[in-house]
Amino acid sequence: MLSYVDARGEPVSGASEEAISLFETALAQLQCYQGDPVATIESAISDSPGFIMAHCLRAYVFALTTEQSAMAEVRASYEAAGDVTSLARERRHLHVVGHLLNGNWERAVAVLEDILIDSPRDALALQVLHLSDFFLGDARNLRDHVARVLPEWSVDDPGYHALLGMYAFGLVECGDYARAEDMGRKALALNPCDAWAQHAVAHVMEMQGRQEEGIDWMNQGRHHRAGDNALAVHNWWHLALFHLDLDQIDRVLELYDGPIRGGRSPAVLDLIDATALMWRLHLRGIDSATRWSELAESWEALAEGGFYAFNDAHAMMAFAAADRDKAAAALLVAQQKAMVGNASNAMVTHQVGHPLCNALRAFGRGDYATAVHLLRPLRSRLSRFGGSHDQRDVVDLTLMEAARRDGQLALVRELANERIELKPTSPLNQRYREEASRRLAELSGVAMV
Ligand SMILES: [Fe+2]
Repeated sequence: MLSYVDARGEPVSGASEEAISLFETALAQLQCYQGDPVATIESAISDSPGFIMAHCLRAYVFALTTEQSAMAEVRASYEAAGDVTSLARERRHLHVVGHLLNGNWERAVAVLEDILIDSPRDALALQVLHLSDFFLGDARNLRDHVARVLPEWSVDDPGYHALLGMYAFGLVECGDYARAEDMGRKALALNPCDAWAQHAVAHVMEMQGRQEEGIDWMNQGRHHRAGDNALAVHNWWHLALFHLDLDQIDRVLELYDGPIRGGRSPAVLDLIDATALMWRLHLRGIDSATRWSELAESWEALAEGGFYAFNDAHAMMAFAAADRDKAAAALLVAQQKAMVGNASNAMVTHQVGHPLCNALRAFGRGDYATAVHLLRPLRSRLSRFGGSHDQRDVVDLTLMEAARRDGQLALVRELANERIELKPTSPLNQRYREEASRRLAELSGVAMV
C-alpha cells in the first residue's frame, strides 16, 4: 500500500502523490465553499481507489448537506473505504462517518475531537467539526474547537486562512464582535476566496445593525455569491437581510426573485434561506401566494420531515404560509416518529423542533395565543436545533409578531426593548416598541407625550 503525507504532514494510506494533490484541491474547495469538491475527490478516488481519506472527504461533503437523500452517498463512500488501514487517524475518521450515518452527531463530534487532540493539524477533521458544531448550535465550540488547535498552525500552512475564518465565525456567535471582524478580515487578506470568513464579517455587521456597511461589504464580495459557491444563496440572503432591516422591501423581493430563488435550487440549505426570508416578510404582512406555493411544493417534494429539526421548522413555515394543512400534519407525524430512538435529532425534535413546528402551524392558522404559549419557553433552548443567531432570530420575530397580533402589548414592548438594546439601529425594533407603547397608553387612557 502506498504511504505518503498530506500537505500538513499527516500520513495517509492508499494514495498516489497525484491523488493527494487532488485531495488537497478538494479540501481547499471545501474550505472556501467554491467549485465542486465531490468531482475533485472522485478524480482522486479514480486514481487511488484505496485512498481512505478521499472516501471520507466525499462522505463528509454529502453528510454536511443535512439532507436525508444524501445519506445513500455517505454510505456508498463508507463502504467503498472499507476498514483496511493501519493508521489510527484514518480509522477514527471512518468511525466519524459511521456515527454520521447513524445520525449521531454528538458521537461524531467526540471522535473528531479525539482526532484533533492527536492531530491538531488535521484540517478536514476541523472543517467537519466546525460545521457539526454549527448544526448542533454549539456556539462555544464553534469558537473553542478552533482555538484549541490554532497555535499548532502557522500562517505559512496551506489553509491557515480557513482557521481564521472559522475562528471569526465562532467569535461572532459568542458575541465577541470586534475580534471576530479582525479575524475575518485577516483570513480574507490571506485568501480573498474564503467565503466563510467573508460571511463571518457579514454576521458581525448584522448583529451590530451596521446595515449600510453590510450592504457595501456584501457587494464587495461578489465572487462569494457567484454560482459556483455553495454559500452563494446564503450570502445573497444576508444581503437581503440588510435591505430588509432598512425596510427596502422592493430590493428584498428583487433579490428573492433573482439570485435567492430564481434558480429554484432544490438544495435544503438554499430552501431554508428562501423560506426564512419569505417568512420574515410574512410576519410584516407581505405575502405572495405564488412564491409560497413554489416553496411549499419544493419542501413537499423533498419529503424529509423528521430528519433534521432545523429543516423541519422551515418546511413548516412554508406549509403554514401556503395553507398546506395536510403537509403540515404529515410533517408533525414524521417528527413524532423521529422522536423515538437515539439519533441526535430525536432529542432536538422533542425539545425544540416539534413544539416549534406546532407554534408555526398555530401562527399560520391565526391562533396567535397558542403560538406565543409554545414559543416563549423555547427561546432559552432554541440554539440546540442549530444554525446561527441570525437564522434563529426568525423565531424571536415570530414570537414578537404573534404577541402583537394577540394583543399582548406589554410582552411586545419588552421583547422590543430586548432587541433595541442589542440593535438600536433597526427601524423594525423601534416600530414594535413605539406601537406597543402607544396602544398601551391608549388602553390606559394616558395621553402620549
Ligand atoms: Fe449566515
